[in-house]
Amino acid sequence: MVGDTRRGNKLLGFLEERFALSTLLHLAEKKKVPIHRHSVWYYMGGIAAIYLAVQVVTGILLMVYYVPEIQSAHASILKINSQIDFGWFIRSLHSWGANLMIAVVVLHLFSTYFMKAYRRPREFTWLSGLLLLVLCMAFGFTGYLLPWDDVSFFATKIGLDVAAKTPVLGGIIADLLRGGEAISQATISRFFVIHVAVLPICLLGLLGGHLLFVQMHGMSEPDAFKNLPSAKKTYEKFFPNFFFKDILVWILALNVLFVLVMLAPWGIGPEADPFGAAPIGIKPEWYFLSMFQFLKLVPPMIGPIEGELFGILLMGIAALAFAVLPLLDQGQSKSISKLATAYGVIIAIAAIALSVWGALS
Ligand code: HEM
Repeated sequence: MVGDTRRGNKLLGFLEERFALSTLLHLAEKKKVPIHRHSVWYYMGGIAAIYLAVQVVTGILLMVYYVPEIQSAHASILKINSQIDFGWFIRSLHSWGANLMIAVVVLHLFSTYFMKAYRRPREFTWLSGLLLLVLCMAFGFTGYLLPWDDVSFFATKIGLDVAAKTPVLGGIIADLLRGGEAISQATISRFFVIHVAVLPICLLGLLGGHLLFVQMHGMSEPDAFKNLPSAKKTYEKFFPNFFFKDILVWILALNVLFVLVMLAPWGIGPEADPFGAAPIGIKPEWYFLSMFQFLKLVPPMIGPIEGELFGILLMGIAALAFAVLPLLDQGQSKSISKLATAYGVIIAIAAIALSVWGALS
């Protein structure tokens, strides 16, 4: 017993000398989390991070058996699903995990937006977060093609055709991704490299910055809490109080993922036939559905401009305004603050309505 304690103390001493653990612990203990009726939203970033960890682990395991070649990609997924021990489980965790992660990142985005967590000095936390969402969607887009089934093939074709219409760089980017005029072996190779190497490096680097900003600035306080007299403001320590609650929330989030995997293991459609017809009523993944539906609603020509190009421009301007408006809303002007909130509500309602419409039509 005494020997164990001594060995433990020695180990702690060893780690302390090399990694200054007490400084890190001190930092975590100093960080405090405001307690108010919107505190629940402070868990969202952490849930996104735990789902990201699942994606990294399951992604590495899938790479062991997945073959990024046109002739074998579909067969390798069939093999993972039916012949490799727990292959179906790992693949379902990865596919469901991707969807849950994007859903949570979207919730995190809107909760930080409406709590006005983007205000000074957190502008770069906001901007790095937006880039993280773009990267998450790029993960979804590139991963979708890899099983090489008919839906993934044609959805990617539509996606690349739409991207090609984007003014200035759209055509070049679509050509670079496709690796030629048609979707081919070059496309699957490029999507694979982007999905398993380029995006993870970018995402982990960017996330490092995002979390560093969160650590530097601490948790933001919504106006209603900030304006309270100090005697009425309550906080809890990030470590250990909030951190242990974080762990409980992660366990819950992982349980949601496991339940989905068990109840609805991820399937696969018939192998892609590039010369066949696109499946009727083909739709992209839910997180692209609002944009897809919006483009479907735009008439073919608007004056002299092609409808699709007009739609893409309009969505680009709307997204840019959503990114920039928070930088203008710094809390000094009530009208700008109200405008930012109203704009967020409009974007959220439009995205939900268009997605539901797209899913039902
Ligand atoms: C891979 C995706 C992401 C991960 C893993 C992540 C992780 C985190 C974590 C752990 C926190 C601290 C806890 C919290 O407030 O929830 C945080 C805070 C924050 N995140 Fe993210 N985030 C991601 C994407 C985003 C996105 C898409 C946005 C918005 C554009 C965003 C904006 C913010 C802001 C403004 C804060 C500060 C919140 C505050 O101080 O109250 N993040 N993020």
